[in-house]
Amino acid sequence: MITTPPLTTLQFRKALGHFSTGVTVVTVERAPGLVHGMTANSFTSVSLEPMLILVCVDQRAKLLPLLEKKRRFGVSVLKQGQEAISEYFAKGDQSAEAEERLSIRYDWKHAGVPLLEDTLLRLPCSVVASYITGDHTIFVGEVESAEISEGEPLLFYRGEYRKIAHQS
Ligand SMILES: Cc1cc2nc3c(=O)[nH]c(=O)nc-3n(C[C@H](O)[C@H](O)[C@H](O)COP(=O)(O)O)c2cc1C
Repeated sequence: MITTPPLTTLQFRKALGHFSTGVTVVTVERAPGLVHGMTANSFTSVSLEPMLILVCVDQRAKLLPLLEKKRRFGVSVLKQGQEAISEYFAKGDQSAEAEERLSIRYDWKHAGVPLLEDTLLRLPCSVVASYITGDHTIFVGEVESAEISEGEPLLFYRGEYRKIAHQS
């Protein structure tokens, strides 16, 4: 299908949905021992030396002022079967009760950087640059360490969660 110009925001969004991604949760310590998380699939690796990643955050996201203030954050890559966790962190309301229900647990090994336990990959990061562009801000993070676990990734394609199919 070819869309006729000018492209609408909805068409643009649908078109870009054809690029499949993984799903991450970006976490910040919003108050001592308390976490705010946001589901993000704009996560990308940027540089090997230094080790940099980026994530694009909507100007309206609650996460944005927290990232600007705290300058450290965690990226946790979700596993297959963690759709409910992705949906939870894509909604505004976060509570200890809901997290208990979803068995969400935080790993606080890295001082001031919460990470989600039982995820495929966990990266504690510090903000080294940010660029306001359009309706998002690009945050570039330097990766401090990486913890990898066994499992398969949760995928996101055309607005739906998918899983990897292995060639037989
Ligand atoms: C699969 C998926 C990927 C998303 N990726 C992003 C993203 O990369 N950047 C972003 O700003 N919002 C993204 N969102 C939307 C946010 O998770 C959602 O708007 C969230 O409520 C905003 O976070 P807040 O609670 O900090 O305001 C995504 C949502 C889903 C379901």
